[in-house]
Amino acid sequence: MVPTMAELLRLEKVSSGYGETVVLENIDLKLAESGTLAIIGRNGVGKTTLLATIMGHTRLHGGAIRFGGLDLAGRPGHERAVAGIGYVPQEREIFASLTVEENLTVAARPGPWTAERVYELFPRLAQRRRNRGNQLSGGEQQMLSIGRALTVNPKLLLMDEPLEGLAPVIVEQLLAAMERLRETGGFSIVLVEQHTRIALAFAQRTVVLDRGRVVFDGPSGELAGDPERLAKLIGVAGQPGQLHPAAEG
Ligand SMILES: Nc1ncnc2c1ncn2[C@@H]1O[C@H](COP(=O)(O)OP(=O)(O)O)[C@@H](O)[C@H]1O
Ligand SMILES: [Mg+2]
Repeated sequence: MVPTMAELLRLEKVSSGYGETVVLENIDLKLAESGTLAIIGRNGVGKTTLLATIMGHTRLHGGAIRFGGLDLAGRPGHERAVAGIGYVPQEREIFASLTVEENLTVAARPGPWTAERVYELFPRLAQRRRNRGNQLSGGEQQMLSIGRALTVNPKLLLMDEPLEGLAPVIVEQLLAAMERLRETGGFSIVLVEQHTRIALAFAQRTVVLDRGRVVFDGPSGELAGDPERLAKLIGVAGQPGQLHPAAEG
């Protein structure tokens, strides 16, 4: 018999949004311990809202979110961090006036992920440890945002488009670090990623969102091997005959 991995995260019929506005509807999702999950879909379909909902930064309109044995509904974000969720937000949100080292200690919790271990993963941050957040390049800020989430010593790491807007050489470095985390980090990862091929190659399972709903949930290989289905799901093909950028303006 194949042993089943313990479940770490489960969303059941989750609806959430901002104020009265419902963005996500009826989301079911689960993730095993040490599992990897990619969330893909076009701009504005609700990927960031999904991570923000797991972190408690949105209004939960219905459904349940379980993390380990905990019911997360109604718990504020900092409690979710303490429970073991590390969050790398799309906007990075590092502390601009604090040094790299201070950013790495401000939310730290006991465990194997110390500032020193983050410096091993991102040697550039070690060179920059006395620089303030606002003195860093975009790539260094992203490394710091990931590093800060690691010092929480999470059981689950949420990353929202960590490669967005970065130069190719930095993307390569970050991706290599993310692959190391996947292999040796000792936690589960949810990766929101615009680069579909990177997402499918990175994660065991993939969820495709479209207008706030799950339209695919399955092994990443299923989509990687079926570009036509993938195009339909994420709508890159748009409506046939309507995508003629060269004809515009
Ligand atoms: N703070 C907010 N207040 C109100 N609406 C928001 C807020 N953030 C995002 N939205 C809306 O929620 C929808 C999903 O956005 P988002 O989760 O950022 O999508 P994605 O990350 O997939 O690009 C969009 O229609 C967006 O306009
Ligand atoms: Mg987003």
